[in-house]
Amino acid sequence: MKEKSINCGIAGSGFAAKFHYEALLRVFSVKVDIKGAFSPTREKLGQFTDPRNLKAYGNIDELIDAVDVIHVCTPPLTHEPIVIAALRKNKHVIVEKPFTGYFGDGSKDFNGDKFPREEGLQQALASVKRMIDAEKKSKGKIMYAENWIYAPAIMKESDMIRKTKAQIIWMHGEESHSGSHSLTYGQWKFSGGGSMMGKGCHPLSAALYFKQVEGMTGNGKPIRPAAITARTHVVTRMPGYKNEGHLRTTYTDIEDFAMMHIVFEDGTFADIFASELVLGGVHNWIELNTNNHRTVCNINPNNAMQTYTPDEKHFKDVYIVEKTETKQGWSSVSPDESWFTGYQHEMEAFYRSAAFGDPVESNSTLAADTIATIYAGYLSAEKKGTEVQITLF
Ligand SMILES: NC(=O)c1ccc[n+]([C@@H]2O[C@H](COP(=O)([O-])OP(=O)(O)OC[C@H]3O[C@@H](n4cnc5c(N)ncnc54)[C@H](O)[C@@H]3O)[C@@H](O)[C@H]2O)c1
Repeated sequence: MKEKSINCGIAGSGFAAKFHYEALLRVFSVKVDIKGAFSPTREKLGQFTDPRNLKAYGNIDELIDAVDVIHVCTPPLTHEPIVIAALRKNKHVIVEKPFTGYFGDGSKDFNGDKFPREEGLQQALASVKRMIDAEKKSKGKIMYAENWIYAPAIMKESDMIRKTKAQIIWMHGEESHSGSHSLTYGQWKFSGGGSMMGKGCHPLSAALYFKQVEGMTGNGKPIRPAAITARTHVVTRMPGYKNEGHLRTTYTDIEDFAMMHIVFEDGTFADIFASELVLGGVHNWIELNTNNHRTVCNINPNNAMQTYTPDEKHFKDVYIVEKTETKQGWSSVSPDESWFTGYQHEMEAFYRSAAFGDPVESNSTLAADTIATIYAGYLSAEKKGTEVQITLF
């Protein structure tokens, strides 16, 4: 194996850059040569590149020129310009979620609570279109780093849908935890939305993907989303919220709870929840009810390993699982977190695609459908849940 070698570079040097780097070390069918990284703050870039013996590039164009594949591990606001710059140079891009969005009108006092959602929808769709148009003109591909698609539980269920030829009737799923660590998360102008965007995109993409798989299995055509009813809430900024210090409360102008009801073009549906309001670690799951089986995919927590300690001081040097508030008592350990979350599997699949031309399961169509659904969802939420049709590309 590893006869083919591919160069890559990482845009960003924060949380996502680190897990991309770790996942790249575990790609086995292609030799990945990680050339270096770029991010605007020199000191923080050095903290990422120095211990890993990577080159710290002086600007994004230099990095793009030096590699075959660019990893876009930067705030959502910056995804479109980096993706388009790389595609113009015929490079492949592995772009983090959320794909793109609407980040305001550029004014200093832009407030994500207040802008008209129709404007957000139109601008987000225009951004998606620019990225897809750039991909059409490029020899490079967009690989949408939606790790849920490659999580073993989701891959196994996709296989089961293909083999059982199941009709998926109703799905429900969730991504929640006690609040994102990223400082830019929480400000609409950087993140393009709140829980529906930053967290809901994961289970939503999985639900959209499962219906694609069902459609491709049945009649060679994906079944795509048609309409959405959504609600959003702001809980941690409510005057009456009683802060006990366990949930993050520093969001400036985003929602911290979202509910989406998506109707597909065949009349079946999915319900997705996303929030910053859940204690006890990351809660990532999706359940499928089909006409011949029922499956629960527990991405996090799962019971692959459980441990108990009467005092968490014993576990001070032990990593247990993402975002757990305490290690005391019983814990559900994720013994190989990047395996359960699909991080290493997505890199394997993307590099197989770059090296050998394998099809990309998490592609720009899935990314586009996800963004089109979410921003139609924001419009529906503005109308307190009136159904909104979803624009497809
Ligand atoms: N798939 C997942 O499970 C997952 C988890 C966390 C974050 N993410 C996504 O990864 C992306 C980055 O999030 P994060 O948590 O790493 O944020 P972060 O704040 O930890 O890091 C962002 C990095 O981007 C850099 N940056 C900002 N503007 C840049 C630009 N124009 N060019 C190059 N670098 C730039 C910053 O300096 C920083 O190093 C987001 O899209 C986020 O939604 C995905």
